[in-house]
Amino acid sequence: MVLVCPSVLSADFARLGEECTRVLEAGADWIHFDVMDGRFVDNISFGLPVLESLHRALPEAVMDVHLMIAHPLRFVRRFAEAGANYLTVHVETTDALPATLPAIHACGCKAGLSLNPGTPVEAVFPYLDQLELVLVMGVEPGHGGQPFDRRALGKLSALRDECARRGLSPVLSVDGGVKPGTTAPECVAAGATALVAGSAVFNAKDVPAAVRQLKEST
Ligand code: DX5
Ligand code: ZN
Repeated sequence: MVLVCPSVLSADFARLGEECTRVLEAGADWIHFDVMDGRFVDNISFGLPVLESLHRALPEAVMDVHLMIAHPLRFVRRFAEAGANYLTVHVETTDALPATLPAIHACGCKAGLSLNPGTPVEAVFPYLDQLELVLVMGVEPGHGGQPFDRRALGKLSALRDECARRGLSPVLSVDGGVKPGTTAPECVAAGATALVAGSAVFNAKDVPAAVRQLKEST
């Protein structure tokens, strides 16, 4: 069954702990935590102290941390100490990936690599054997609630095929524009093994139902 990872970017930050508890009780697998620095993307979200608090409140929750920041290497250790389980950086980052991915592992985290809608899927191929997760963006990173870019579907199937050919099995996650009943099942059919969804979960009238529907995507 596909992993469901609600993105807290669309949660009510005044009640972040309760919002996370609610989605986890509804069957969500991981909490997706979007860090933005106003440089790599044109938005600022939240960072280390918020992750620390959330991890303290929910120590068992798997924290899937997505770094949309200009210099992720500088912050790897601090995000690991704050409670990250998966630490995903962008292939478009200026920091050297051959240094960053081993640094993530050295801190005891699982390493993820993300690619923007305009980046060809082959950009991540050289790193595949160092990754526990690939995060295919279905939107330009920076904001929740944008429409799904269908180029993500072709990338997911290319990744599924390339991983099968090489005997690798990283989590294939998709982030942005993922909606129950429409783009979510399409992503799963294309090879996604994890779904990140922000607005579709936290803006839903019935949040637990939205999580369950995503979980049942086939
Ligand atoms: C976008 C973030 C996403 C975002 C997805 O920069 O990485 O995780 O929250 O939001 P939705 O699901 O609303 O497209
Ligand atoms: Zn994200």
